[in-house]
Amino acid sequence: MAVPLVDSYGRIHRDLRISVTDRCNFRCTYCMPAEGMTWQPRDELLSFEEISRVASLMVERFGVDNIRLTGGEPTVRAQLPRLVSMLAELPVDLALTTNGATLALVAEDLARAGLRRINVSCDSLRRERFAEITKRDSLDKVLDGIDAALTAGLAPVKLNVVVMRGVNEDELVDFADYGRRTGVVVRFIEFMPLDAQEQWTARQVVTYDEIVARIGSVYPLEEVARGSAPAERFRYADGGGEIGVIASVTRSFCSTCDRVRLTADGQFRTCLFATDDHDLRGALRGGASDDELAAIVSSAVAGKWAGHGIGQVHFIRPNRSMSQIGG
Ligand code: 5AD
Ligand code: SF4
Repeated sequence: MAVPLVDSYGRIHRDLRISVTDRCNFRCTYCMPAEGMTWQPRDELLSFEEISRVASLMVERFGVDNIRLTGGEPTVRAQLPRLVSMLAELPVDLALTTNGATLALVAEDLARAGLRRINVSCDSLRRERFAEITKRDSLDKVLDGIDAALTAGLAPVKLNVVVMRGVNEDELVDFADYGRRTGVVVRFIEFMPLDAQEQWTARQVVTYDEIVARIGSVYPLEEVARGSAPAERFRYADGGGEIGVIASVTRSFCSTCDRVRLTADGQFRTCLFATDDHDLRGALRGGASDDELAAIVSSAVAGKWAGHGIGQVHFIRPNRSMSQIGG
């Protein structure tokens, strides 16, 4: 019998994000330095068997019913479909977040291995700007990857756009048009202070209000009742589909957060912005029993804080970048 993973604020945690690598074939300016990234040594990464053991325990003991694979870029991990097929045995909604660059090559294999859904990150639909942001001239590959995911039946495909002032805010309506044309659900994300370059300032956040107003002025929007997902959902009044806005900064959803994370090097984290790690790898490799692993997980969650506090005086940037934590 599963016992819910509850913290001291009464939040139940059912969503597990698993990073499978900190490596990436892109160098997004807000995530990584253009050169000189050092990667975690391979032997520090959890093996597929270790990941599966943690995932099974989270499902069986704690009733986790959502697993999302992240990175870095998850598709650069060798034999990813093998891990997907191992996790697909569990009674969970299994999804993947990718930059899409190699998706055209693996979408079919991932779907066949049991992947259900996919989120693709893409911050510009203009070739040169895309290359400036990611340091790779790969927009066409990403768009082909999205087509391949749709063909493979990984529906709905969601496209995540981090909206940054002075960078891509002029593309909101272009993205809306793209979603209306392809059936992809575009989700606009407020830029958070997780950038490795420490260039984030509150001024760069294009807010939820601005995003909704800008798109709504071209395509009238109606709010859709919100589930537990962090995205506020809207549908086009003319029936043209749906968008999401993830207001991580201006309307933090910390009070309903149901997520926990496992980093590629086997550290358990209760928040993207957590400043501490709980060492599951050490426990796994030291021969810990399932009870011992479960105790680490429940005590970490018991001590989870109320929220990130971005904008408040006591806010501290996490000691790892997004690529090392997992999105
Ligand atoms: N703010 C908001 N979203 C971010 N992502 C990466 N860094 C940030 C940030 N600072 C996004 C990626 C991807 C997902 C994994 O997280 O673009 O969509
Ligand atoms: Fe890679 Fe994602 Fe970081 Fe871009 S944001 S460099 S795609 S991990």
